[in-house]
Amino acid sequence: AMEQKDVIRQELGSLHGIPLFKSFIEGWPQVKAFQARPDDLLISTYPKSGTTWLSEIMDMIYHDGDVEKCRRDAIYNRVPFLEMKVSKGPSGVEQLENTPSPRLVKTHLPVQLLPTSFWEKDCKIIYMARNPKDVVISYYYFHHMAKIHPDPGTKAEFLENFMAGKVAYGSWYDHVRGWWEKKQEKMLYLFYEDMKKDPRREVQKILHFLGKELAEGTVERILHHTSFQEMKKNPAANYETMLPTMMDHSVSPFLRKGISGDWKNHFTVAQNERFNQHYQEHMAGSDLHFQMEV
Ligand code: A3P
Repeated sequence: AMEQKDVIRQELGSLHGIPLFKSFIEGWPQVKAFQARPDDLLISTYPKSGTTWLSEIMDMIYHDGDVEKCRRDAIYNRVPFLEMKVSKGPSGVEQLENTPSPRLVKTHLPVQLLPTSFWEKDCKIIYMARNPKDVVISYYYFHHMAKIHPDPGTKAEFLENFMAGKVAYGSWYDHVRGWWEKKQEKMLYLFYEDMKKDPRREVQKILHFLGKELAEGTVERILHHTSFQEMKKNPAANYETMLPTMMDHSVSPFLRKGISGDWKNHFTVAQNERFNQHYQEHMAGSDLHFQMEV
């Protein structure tokens, strides 16, 4: 139908040189002018890096591990997506304006595009990064199921586009490095791989960063509720409440595999060698390091 045309499989536009959905670019003036509140907490990621996982953990922490309260709405409403705008329904900014404090805010914006208000209000920020080999595979499957994206082409083609930064939100390298270089007291930089390896330690890091204490049993409940298996069957966390015209879980579920190292099932030896070479070139001179498996 005509009305779907603006969401489904359009080519990307460009926002200050960053490839992005045209509908998001239309909403950019409101995003740029967004008024952060001092007690906002920003969850920032490159797509497919564990945003939803971290969001569920944060909402659970904010509600002292109350599982029922965290079922009050879908994760994309509990943690509004700042720069999200499609023709129907409220934009991320509109959702946030109607969210009581303290708010959790999700963004995928590269650091240079973050609305200045977050810096002016000195908001706390948690960035989560994931190794690029798993990101690109996750992003490839996500392109198939989430129809806001352009057609990803073959896996080989998508890999090339990803390496060249020709996907929504641009270069993974620029994103993780840009946020890493901005790291400061009010920012916690986490890794998906660490969260997989020792979620308890990472949740403790978050609690320390927030200056919050929770009973051992509460932490236990948070870890259980935010495990891959629990989130996969939780309609408030697994995106299955989204319209099938936007996301088709029969093509690939949103919570797809939830592991580190799945890229090994997808990269050819040649692709891996080429990727390693490219990775070394683009991470040269940085003290930011990734675990490609755990
Ligand atoms: P895979 O496609 O590799 O399975 P985002 O939320 O940023 O879009 O990231 C989605 C990725 O995080 C998907 O990766 C998804 O399965 C994974 N994920 C979501 N919840 C998770 C959890 N509780 N534990 C581990 N991985 C999780």
